[in-house]
Order: sequence, then C-alpha cells, then structure tokens
Amino acid sequence: MTALLKDESGFDPNAIRSQFPILSRQVNGHPLIYFDNAATAQKPEQVIEAVTDVWRYSYANVHRGLHTLANEATEAFEVTRRKAAALIGVECDSQIVFTKGATEAINLVADSFGAMLNEGDEIILTQMEHHSNIVPWHFLRERKGIVLKFAPVTEGGELDWHGFDALFTDRTRLVSMVHMSNVLGSVTPARQVVQRAHAADAAVLFDGTQATVHMPIDVIDLGCDFYVFTGHKLYGPNGVGVLYAARDWLDRLRPYQGGGEMIAEVREDSVEYAHSPHKFEAGTPAIADVIGLGAAIDWVQAFDREAVMAHESALMDRFEVQIRDIDGLKILGGDQDRGAIISFVVDGAHPHDLAQLMDKYGVAVRAGHHCAHPLMQRFGVPGAVRASFALYNTKTEVDAAVMALRKALNFLI
Ligand SMILES: Cc1ncc(COP(=O)(O)O)c(C=O)c1O
Repeated sequence: MTALLKDESGFDPNAIRSQFPILSRQVNGHPLIYFDNAATAQKPEQVIEAVTDVWRYSYANVHRGLHTLANEATEAFEVTRRKAAALIGVECDSQIVFTKGATEAINLVADSFGAMLNEGDEIILTQMEHHSNIVPWHFLRERKGIVLKFAPVTEGGELDWHGFDALFTDRTRLVSMVHMSNVLGSVTPARQVVQRAHAADAAVLFDGTQATVHMPIDVIDLGCDFYVFTGHKLYGPNGVGVLYAARDWLDRLRPYQGGGEMIAEVREDSVEYAHSPHKFEAGTPAIADVIGLGAAIDWVQAFDREAVMAHESALMDRFEVQIRDIDGLKILGGDQDRGAIISFVVDGAHPHDLAQLMDKYGVAVRAGHHCAHPLMQRFGVPGAVRASFALYNTKTEVDAAVMALRKALNFLI
C-alpha cells in the first residue's frame, strides 16, 4: 500500500470546495468535516443548478409529449444516457437502463435473470457484499431454491481467490460481486473474475456503486455482463441509478415492472414490449434527477480522474498512518488494493459512541454494520467506524478528524 504523507497528485481540493455550499457550514460549533462520502456525497452547485433549472424552466414528462418542453426534457434525459454510457466506457447508450439506484438495478437483474434459473442453480457472491447485493439473491433462494455461495474474504481484506475458485460447479450461473467494497475499500480483481466465471459459462454482475466514484471504469475492458452504479454517491441526485447490460442481455431478459413507457402495444389479450432499454423503464422516471446525474457526470469527468484518485488515496493513507498506533485500534482488512474507504474498531469503544463523539467536533463518520452483516460476521465485529474520502476533502480535515478521534477515545477509555 502507498504510504504517501504528501499529496503529490497535483489535485487541489481547495480550488473546488467553494462549489459545495454545504461544506461551509458549521456543525456543533466546528467546521463540517464530511467523511461519510461512501454513504452519500455532497453536491456541487453545477448539479444543484441542473436539477433546479429543470424544475424552474424546462420540466415536462419525457418520451410521450409532442410539445417543445416535452422534447427538450426528453433530449436532456437521453443525453444523460449517453453520458452514463461514456462514463463506464460504453458506446451504445441503449445498453444503459435508468433505475432508482444501484439497489433497484440489482433487483431488476435478480428478478429478470432469476426468471431464467432453475431450482438448484447456483449464484456466487462474496462475504463483502452490501445487503443490496445479497438480499435480492436471497429472494431467489427463498422463492426458487437457488443456491447462494459466498466467496471468502481474507484477513487482509482481499477476495480469497482459491476460496472463490473452489465454489464453481456445473450449476454456477452467475457471479455477483462488489467492484469496490463499501466497508474495506477493497477493489476486486474484476478482469480475472470475469475470465474465471465465463470459463464456467456463468455471467458476471459487478456492483460498481463505490468503484464508479473513485476510479475510471471501462466495462468493455472488464468484459462483465452487468454493471450497476448509483447517482447520489457520484455527487449527483438520489433516486437515480444505472444498470449496464452487455451484448443482447437486455433483449433476453424479461421486463422487471409493467406500466407506461415500456410498451409498444397493449391489447386486451396481449402486450408487446418496447425495445430496450425502455422495456425496463416503466412509469415516469426521476426526470430532473436523471438530468442532474448528467450534470454530475460532466462535473466528475472534467477532472483528471487519476489525479483525484491519488489525492483521495493520499488522504486515506494520511489518516491511516496517524491512527495505526492507537492502542487497541484494528483496521478491517488493510493489505488490499483499495479505494479511499477505511473502517476500524477500537477495543473498549463502541463504534456508535465514537461516531457520536466525533460529531461533537463537526466530524461526520459512519458507524455500524454498513449494510454488510456477513462481512461484520467474517471479522467478528458487530460494527465498525468508517471514514470515506471525497475529492473535496483536505489534509487539514484529516488531521482535525484524527484529533477528534483521539479526544473521543480519551473520553471513552
Ligand atoms: C457497494 C454498495 N452497493 C450498493 C449500495 C446501494 O446503493 P443505493 O442505496 O444507492 O441503491 C451501496 C450503498 O451504500 C453500496 O455502498
């Protein structure tokens, strides 16, 4: 792991902080230090304006109108589809489905892909999945007798390759795996996973909810079948997410929900569906939020993403170096290739108490199970404190957060 104490990326967070109105507020008499970015990111003016401009000046329903406003809204909505495709390296925007979020995107695949499975078919997950990449598959276990297998995670926080490899059988139909863990920050070896799964004729879904925020993504290079991400962690609005499906998957999968927008023709005795991706977008979508996601993608893409990554890793390293020698502190994982997310526990201090005391100093960190019960079970802890960094965070904030952590510990232990 890189132990940079100096941020040499050339990226200057101070140059963009003024674009985030919320970052200038005080919390409990202290400047806000927002390290809960893995839960949701704050929004730049560009995104806030894009959403409010839709409401103010160009709002209408999409796809069905013939008037100017409807055409403008439809055009802006579809332009976002092209931006979302480009963000993850896809040329053909008809492979992009808008959903409510990553959770709905995974539920869509679980329902539609799941309809093609039979009792006894197997799906491989990992111990480091977010509940949104576990529970939809449990539905299939409960309802269809699908077998779920969990690939182990090493003490160092990596996918245990041998354990993963050993789970494949001739009944394996799908691997559904996080691309970057929301707890450990671990980046899974996506290309090798796809090679292994495809060799067994199994499809691959990556949950790119955190990865899309912290690293450039090229799903064509990865070769996966499905990739999902969510808007609100990418500095965009909530209520919007993306499902990418490779090749002809969208044509092969049955629609997930029925309603307006997703049909070509409805009769009393039959229904003909619209072409993909509209087949999967029943009902009025989150129009302003989708357009806001387009603004967020533009905003993120305007930066040198490698430099942003280096900046975020430097923040995490600086944090880690300063907390590592705290008595009784244990970082979950730590050896792995990871993004700017770090979780830890301290003997004798409950994670909730730590987070609440740090909040007294204006520091927002997350504490709890992080929607990852199996991972907490794997590490034998009920919960952990998580600090997750964004491009607007600074070294000064890291130092102040460490100070707040030390004060909280002095109080508790
Ligand atoms: C790795 C991962 N997957 C999925 C989700 C679910 O995202 P959403 O709630 O936006 O659907 C999260 C949210 O924390 C996450 O971190």
